[in-house]
Amino acid sequence: MRVRVLGIESSCDDTAAAVVAHTPGARPEILSNVVLGQADLHARFGGVVPEIAARAHVEKLDHAVAAALDAAGLDLRDLDAIAVTAGPGLIGGVLSGVMLAKGLAAATGLPLLGINHLAGHALTPRLTDDVAFPYLMLLVSGGHCQFLLVRGPEDYTRLGGTVDDAPGEAFDKVARLLALPQPGGPAVEAEARTGDPSRHPLPRPLLDRPGCDLSFSGLKTAVLRARDTLVARDGGLHRAARADLCAAFQGAVSDVLTEKSRRALALYLAALPPQPVFAVAGGVAANLCLRRALEAQAQAAGARFFAPPLALCTDNAAMIAWAGIERLRQGATGDAEVTARPRWPLDTASPALIGAGRKGAKA
Ligand code: KG4
Ligand code: ZN
Repeated sequence: MRVRVLGIESSCDDTAAAVVAHTPGARPEILSNVVLGQADLHARFGGVVPEIAARAHVEKLDHAVAAALDAAGLDLRDLDAIAVTAGPGLIGGVLSGVMLAKGLAAATGLPLLGINHLAGHALTPRLTDDVAFPYLMLLVSGGHCQFLLVRGPEDYTRLGGTVDDAPGEAFDKVARLLALPQPGGPAVEAEARTGDPSRHPLPRPLLDRPGCDLSFSGLKTAVLRARDTLVARDGGLHRAARADLCAAFQGAVSDVLTEKSRRALALYLAALPPQPVFAVAGGVAANLCLRRALEAQAQAAGARFFAPPLALCTDNAAMIAWAGIERLRQGATGDAEVTARPRWPLDTASPALIGAGRKGAKA
């Protein structure tokens, strides 16, 4: 039977709503995908301010849902379920989404599904490319960084993750250090295009240690030192020197993620998956230099590589609606209780790696 699910996402700084339809045996259809960003509200603070984000979600959520239904040409009565991000993330934002979804579910009698935001990212390759379980996923964004073995919609093993910053967070901080605009990732990537990555030898953190854990905060400090040395030597930061530093930083992030991907692929392939797939998701997956390096690594290991289109890499509600559909397909009929959770690890068996970061809990 064809199902149509409304997804709602408000765990960080994007207020999003989407409708996804699915008929068993056919490809899923994204009927609408609305994202109302808040970058302008946070720009002058140099990062996401949780209270401002929560208030903006409260103001924008109704509009996002109305716009998503409108774009899909549907009414609430046409839906089969509502899926809402219930964590992990900034609690004020998550709460805003959960309260709205509970209200809509109570008013319509529709089943309500509380979705893990990370599951939304992790299941995206199935929405876009019909990828079969089990596959290896690298989630790289401003708030998350982990290697996940994805065995089913609710079956994940974390093979490794960051012990401090997420890579997107590091890109954003480096941009700030070099007086580049936010979000830092695209700005640093654009600068790096004309830079020489070999001018500044930056560290490759944790490569000397076995396993798939990562660290990015030392790299950011190394960029700060290199910048200060350049400023002291040249009396300021020249354009070409800044481009070199961006290229060196991007190269170091890419090297670290690629080598750790090689190790994660080896662990994943040891279980002889019938159709090996390595997929990436999260905003940093938009980085072309990184994408190319990861694709080459996957090919060298004999795995197919998937990176969703950018709009589905960054935070969105289509992935939340899809994660809801995956659960319905497994027989879920709605969650009796949906509670907003600031922390919610996908793999509850692995120990927590770190505390909460700028964009909320990373586990
Ligand atoms: O997935 P996302 O939209 O939100 C989070 O859950 O964090 O990711 C946003 C992050 C930001 O830190 C941004 O700087 C980074 O993704 N990003 C990039 C690029 N585009 C976005 N990082 C590196 N290169 C890019 N081209
Ligand atoms: Zn995210």
